[in-house]
Amino acid sequence: MNKRRLGPKGPIVSALGLGCMGMSEGYGAADEREAIATIQHALDLGLSFLDTADIYGPHKNEMLVGRAIRHRRAEVFLATKFGFVSGASTRQLDGRPEYVQVACEASLHRLGVETIDLYYLHRVDPEVPIEDTVGAMADLVRSGKVRYLGLSEVGPATLRRANTVHQITALQSEYSLWSRDPEDNGALETCECLGIGFVPFSPLGRGFLTGAIKSPDDFEPDDFRRTHPRFQGENFARNLQLVAELQRLAQDRQCTPAQLALAWVLARGEHIVPIPGTKRRSRLEENIGAVQIALAADELASLNAMFPRESVAGSRYRDSMLALFAP
Ligand SMILES: NC(=O)c1ccc[n+]([C@@H]2O[C@H](COP(=O)([O-])OP(=O)(O)OC[C@H]3O[C@@H](n4cnc5c(N)ncnc54)[C@H](OP(=O)(O)O)[C@@H]3O)[C@@H](O)[C@H]2O)c1
Repeated sequence: MNKRRLGPKGPIVSALGLGCMGMSEGYGAADEREAIATIQHALDLGLSFLDTADIYGPHKNEMLVGRAIRHRRAEVFLATKFGFVSGASTRQLDGRPEYVQVACEASLHRLGVETIDLYYLHRVDPEVPIEDTVGAMADLVRSGKVRYLGLSEVGPATLRRANTVHQITALQSEYSLWSRDPEDNGALETCECLGIGFVPFSPLGRGFLTGAIKSPDDFEPDDFRRTHPRFQGENFARNLQLVAELQRLAQDRQCTPAQLALAWVLARGEHIVPIPGTKRRSRLEENIGAVQIALAADELASLNAMFPRESVAGSRYRDSMLALFAP
């Protein structure tokens, strides 16, 4: 497996990560045995960068990842996140310094590890200055509980403020052929400028860019893609036309649409490490194939032309989630 560095001074990780969220929530039922086998197969293949969060499940996903890596901790670069609050709390987000400590201890316990390699703030708490939250995260680095710090879904101003308190190693935000916000809002450029790695989440467009999803009726009733505007009604039908073009190009290139979508993300920069999610070994193997695909300039141009911003129908999240982005 090829390697990449998250920023010029950051850690070296596998060029592709594995998103584990769908193994515990969001995208329909999962077979736990196959999910654990998928994580272990990823390690066998040298894909060592695993992504989870305390809120996935809630909590179940960290426990599942913990079980999968129990005897293989040294092979893993382990990333998790905190900030979303589940249960009876009246807060949706918590970035208070005292909570940072509590959340980290709980994640360490569920994962069954002594150190988290990359600890992200999942979303900025609007009631707590980012400097205070990152200050508490920096304390975790000093005490050896965490190695590197990350943020998720923030823009240039927040990144810069956070980075004055402690080096931010990675920004994780949605980025794919049909979700180009990090290009438009300056986040990608700021990451390059500050030496921060960029970790695109949902690089397969939550599965849509693979061509495997033909209708919103394919989703199970509790699948949270049903709440995303671009997966609904007329928007869904219009977006399917974009995927048909991607499928044609993949056929010419003798690869799959998923591989092409990932190869495009990988081609955007050497500091970019996407984390496609799957709960199946067969798809993991398919997705890893993307690392071997080098796209020529004319192919990149064709892909860019295929997905102009205005051609994608519907926003990537419902408004209440979009509002949590911290510019
Ligand atoms: N920071 C954040 O706020 C945030 C938000 C969302 C996600 N994430 C992280 O990013 C990771 C990846 O994002 P994501 O899972 O939302 O979206 P994604 O990687 O774009 O797509 C995952 C979906 O694609 C399907 N899939 C994967 N490979 C496929 C293939 N080769 N052919 C057909 N279908 C395929 C998966 O189904 P199967 O599992 O059935 O294969 C799953 O439904 C998550 O697991 C999570 O760790 C972070």
